[in-house]
Amino acid sequence: MKAAIIKDYGKQVEISEVPMPELSEDSVMIEVHAASINPIDNIVKAGYMKEMMPISFPYIMGYDVSGVVTEVGAKVSKFKIGDEVYSRPNQMDAGSIAEYNVVKEDELAFKPSKLNYEESASIPLAGLTAFQALTAKGNLQKGQKVLIHAGSGGVGSLAIQIAKHLGAEVAVTTSRSNFEMVKNLGADVVIDYKTQKFEEELSDYDLVLDTMGGEIMKKSFEILKKGGSIVSLKSQDTEELAKKYDVNFEAFFMWPSGEMLTHLTQLINDEVLKPMIDRSYSFEQVQEAYDYLQRGHAKGKVVIKIR
Ligand SMILES: NC(=O)c1ccc[n+]([C@@H]2O[C@H](COP(=O)([O-])OP(=O)(O)OC[C@H]3O[C@@H](n4cnc5c(N)ncnc54)[C@H](OP(=O)(O)O)[C@@H]3O)[C@@H](O)[C@H]2O)c1
Repeated sequence: MKAAIIKDYGKQVEISEVPMPELSEDSVMIEVHAASINPIDNIVKAGYMKEMMPISFPYIMGYDVSGVVTEVGAKVSKFKIGDEVYSRPNQMDAGSIAEYNVVKEDELAFKPSKLNYEESASIPLAGLTAFQALTAKGNLQKGQKVLIHAGSGGVGSLAIQIAKHLGAEVAVTTSRSNFEMVKNLGADVVIDYKTQKFEEELSDYDLVLDTMGGEIMKKSFEILKKGGSIVSLKSQDTEELAKKYDVNFEAFFMWPSGEMLTHLTQLINDEVLKPMIDRSYSFEQVQEAYDYLQRGHAKGKVVIKIR
């Protein structure tokens, strides 16, 4: 089959012939229709996660998939051939920018009926990250105030909608050209990170969803009420700051979950959550797509059309 691969760390992505993935008894084979890309792909590709997450070459890129089930493992009970599905597969099964992708049954969900394949592929990794950060990690409650950094990005654009659905008051940081977009997604307060200082404008927040790390993460402590929380997508040692401000800090890495993805399907079908796609690229343009994402200014998600 054809797949988007890298032959070594730091190399460009190329389309190449590779063997078909092997089906296991608890997995399904998906004929991939669309995939999406995430900043983590560029991080893995550059070799920054070599120690923590060693990969072998040729390595197939891609963590988000949507498509049609063409084969099911002997122990699979919930899905059948012909089902339209989507997923964020685990590390071992990653490699969705390819003609076929094998995914474990418990990491799979039915594709939202209202979305096409490209829209569906934009959801799993970013949507699960936003959902897990705000609920499982951030325990966001109705009436609470949350700041979402980079509300215009892949994660942020979904996080705004989920936080509003949970009944929170939502502030976001982004630049002025994205104000209308984030307000349309539900943001109540918008801070232009280029001309304003969020730490001077906001106070008494219950939760910060930190997508940026570094100084932005550190300044985020200043806007929290005592007992508030920062949930960070960038791992960092902040024990001292958390103690100083008497707040909770948790850095986490999102995890695949068919069950949570099914919940997101429901939110999409109920028109609570909608995908936000910035650009769509063809299979052959995948390196171009990665170059665009790397610039750090995507408005929502970047997707790859496979079929
Ligand atoms: N730990 C995990 O499990 C996990 C999961 C998913 C993502 N992540 C990480 O979370 C981060 C966000 O991911 P993503 O997919 O949302 O990225 P993304 O889509 O590439 O984010 C791009 C957005 O960030 C905005 N932005 C850039 N600099 C900013 C700043 N200083 N302040 C506020 N907004 C800024 C840009 O707006 P402008 O165009 O206005 O600059 C753009 O809309 C990445 O670092 C990613 O690696 C971690």
